[in-house]
Amino acid sequence: DETLKRNAPLFGKKALVTAGPTYEAIDPVRFIGNHSSGKMGFAVADELANLGAEVTLVAGPSYQKAQSQLQRIDVTSAEEMFNACSKVFTVADITVMCAAVADYKPKIVATQKIKKQDANFNIELEKTIDILATLGQRKNKSQILVGFALETNDEAHYAKSKLQKKNLDLIVLNSLNDEGAGFKSDTNKITIFNKAFESTTFEVKNKTEVAKDICNAILKLLK
Ligand code: CTP
Ligand code: CA
Repeated sequence: DETLKRNAPLFGKKALVTAGPTYEAIDPVRFIGNHSSGKMGFAVADELANLGAEVTLVAGPSYQKAQSQLQRIDVTSAEEMFNACSKVFTVADITVMCAAVADYKPKIVATQKIKKQDANFNIELEKTIDILATLGQRKNKSQILVGFALETNDEAHYAKSKLQKKNLDLIVLNSLNDEGAGFKSDTNKITIFNKAFESTTFEVKNKTEVAKDICNAILKLLK
């Protein structure tokens, strides 16, 4: 059993994975969120663990359960996700950011439940921290950083630009135009770009199989 473990392709490697949505509080009973199920991130975390990595999964609110042995840290907001990732990233050999992090949060969080008043109501929002871009700035040469890009148009262009801007080694493009792809779906259709902008497009597969394709691309970088 021990020899089997030691022969696993990612034995001795530490991995950090984010999954799920983030919830940004408006008041004690309301939040801004999104429809991410967390399935893709949990599948990636499980696959990295199956390959022998020591995995920390930072998960936003999600009903998913990890199938493998890993350390799970539950968070709610983008800020909490950032704080958890920040610590783990310093020792992570491989980081895969699958989470659908909110881009904006309410500038002021009401301490009491907001009562309905006028016909119209505005909430001022401010940007959340870009976790992936911040880790990209901190990355050293031996660390592998993988991001996702969710696009509806000019997919390849936006994916390549995120790869470059956020200093990533790989980006996984999820096009919402593709049949069988998306947030709640059990399947996904991806294209992976590397730093040389070489791309590999995969068929529609279930998210476990998609996670294997992503991990294979990571294994290739380690060779
Ligand atoms: N991401 C992050 N922190 C944020 C926003 C995004 O870490 N505050 C990460 C996501 O986990 C994903 C990648 O950045 O791996 C790309 O997310 P995406 O929403 O596609 O891109 P954005 O940079 O947020 O740009 P936009 O939403 O405007 O397309
Ligand atoms: Ca975004």
